[in-house]
Amino acid sequence: MRLEVFFGHHQLAAGDVSGRVVAVIDVLRASTTIAVALANGARAVAPFDNSEDVVTRSKTLVRGEIRLAGERRMHPIPGFDLGNSPREFTREAVEGKTILLSTTNGTRALLAVQGARDVLVASYVNFSPCLAMLRAAARGGADIAIVCAGSDRHFSLEDAACAGRYTRHITKRLANVDVNDAARACMLVDGKYRDDLEYLFSISSHGRALAEAGYAEDLTICAAVDECPVVPIYADRQITKLGPERER
Ligand code: MLT
Repeated sequence: MRLEVFFGHHQLAAGDVSGRVVAVIDVLRASTTIAVALANGARAVAPFDNSEDVVTRSKTLVRGEIRLAGERRMHPIPGFDLGNSPREFTREAVEGKTILLSTTNGTRALLAVQGARDVLVASYVNFSPCLAMLRAAARGGADIAIVCAGSDRHFSLEDAACAGRYTRHITKRLANVDVNDAARACMLVDGKYRDDLEYLFSISSHGRALAEAGYAEDLTICAAVDECPVVPIYADRQITKLGPERER
């Protein structure tokens, strides 16, 4: 079984995800927001590359059944119902709705891994249920790719730490595991910061930018390990939570 970490979807070559189980990580904030939305009863989240595509698609759907969401430079896209702060995706705001979401890095990373065997949206807030699915896949001999969304094609410390924690727990007591150097480096980053996630977010580039932009409270939500016990599965152009209808 082979596990590889990629720092940004732009690093992916053809063939790097096909036939594999892929976990897309964008801790700050897209992965967290998607998990919170599904945990609060959203019907589905559909990722888009840009806000124009969101608007075009919204015109083909029943307005009352959808919510337009997303950010540019961390702030809500003008005219949309929601931004990308997990605090906004309350049960009241999203229950039963389909969220059309466009963010700078997270949704683009998701669009780049279509064609994989399975794609799940992973973070700290849904760590244990996502880990359970990834470990089951690894024990079944599936190869795994962890794609860190990063920040505008730059390395992201928090995504790497999270990828390191998943790698450490997926490979624990598993024989014949082959990991790439990026995965080894991520385990070192995770080993350095372990559970001190709020400190990690306070020194990371995007974490500092979010705090300066007025989203410091989001960092606390993104650090709440296992607060949202859902497994978001991306298939057929939308993300829904793993459930009875999706049991594997
Ligand atoms: C992203 O997808 O680029 C991030 O989630 C942006 C953000 O912090 O909202």
